[in-house]
Amino acid sequence: MKYFNIKDTDLQISTLALGTWVFSGDCWGVVNEQECIDTVSAAIDQGINLIDTAPIYGYGAAESLVGKAIKGRRDKVVVATKCGLIGIGAHIKHNLKPGSIRTEVEESLTRLQIECIDIYQCHWPDPNTPIEETLEFLCKLQKEGKIKYIGVSNFDEKLLKRACDFTKIVTLQNQYSLIERGIEEYVLPMCRKLNLGVLTYGPLAGGILSGKYKKEPNFKPGDSRSFFYKCYKGEEFNKTKKKIDELEKFKRPLNQLAVNWVRQQSGVASVITGARTPAQIIQNAKSFEWDLSDEELIEISRITK
Ligand SMILES: NC(=O)c1ccc[n+]([C@@H]2O[C@H](COP(=O)([O-])OP(=O)(O)OC[C@H]3O[C@@H](n4cnc5c(N)ncnc54)[C@H](OP(=O)(O)O)[C@@H]3O)[C@@H](O)[C@H]2O)c1
Repeated sequence: MKYFNIKDTDLQISTLALGTWVFSGDCWGVVNEQECIDTVSAAIDQGINLIDTAPIYGYGAAESLVGKAIKGRRDKVVVATKCGLIGIGAHIKHNLKPGSIRTEVEESLTRLQIECIDIYQCHWPDPNTPIEETLEFLCKLQKEGKIKYIGVSNFDEKLLKRACDFTKIVTLQNQYSLIERGIEEYVLPMCRKLNLGVLTYGPLAGGILSGKYKKEPNFKPGDSRSFFYKCYKGEEFNKTKKKIDELEKFKRPLNQLAVNWVRQQSGVASVITGARTPAQIIQNAKSFEWDLSDEELIEISRITK
């Protein structure tokens, strides 16, 4: 495993992280609780120390599983969770108001069974709350010792700059993969300039970039992949499949190729990959056994852009 030091912090994070959205149980197929716990253990055994979760994942289910899994191994992990998405029935509301965050942070600490969250991230912007009001409250939580560092997620470059002007932000978590390159033009260069650790999510675009879908998958209604990642339906699926087929010529496991391409982009601190089984996270961690050459990086970019 390789590690990345986030500037001006004591955070040394593995450049591959474990994401736990799939632990939700309600929106990503069936999950087995013990297998989720074993997946966290397998990740730690592989040298992965960054575990990313959120209260919205299974409305607390993912955080509770992470809490059980890291019990007795707290010193081995950097726990990153989030605030600002509130599930109300089938609907999700954005709320980064201090009162709501107070409730969220206390519940997260209880579910995770820890005293302090290492990286506490605003999950998505809340258009109804000035970011300064949110950050002022997060600074208060830092002083109380409930959270150590502040991160943001799904912010564009303008909001990110505004947040960084207000207080110290250590990480930005945004989507980045072979087929989702939105952060390349403005966000990634700005993060490099501001020395922010960029945590990228969705390196397999929810699984498709592992190459396992030979035909359009038929997810159950409500499955997150069918609406969150835009590559599973109709023409988008066919376009993505064509690119994936072309990547076969590199003669590498596609999941590792996809992870390595993101990991080797300048400014990326850690690639967060979701895994539902120990076997998946072990396969993904094998990406560290090799690197893409500069020529391969360029050719893969050309094929997938
Ligand atoms: N901040 C945000 O708004 C945000 C948004 C999305 C995600 N995230 C975070 O980022 C993490 C990663 O993103 P993601 O989980 O959405 O997408 P991802 O990492 O691109 O895909 C993960 C999924 O791919 C499949 N998979 C993983 N390894 C595999 C392998 N070796 N071979 C075949 N299939 C494999 C698994 O699903 P199946 O077994 O079902 O195929 C797994 O759940 C999340 O878990 C979450 O922590 C954050």
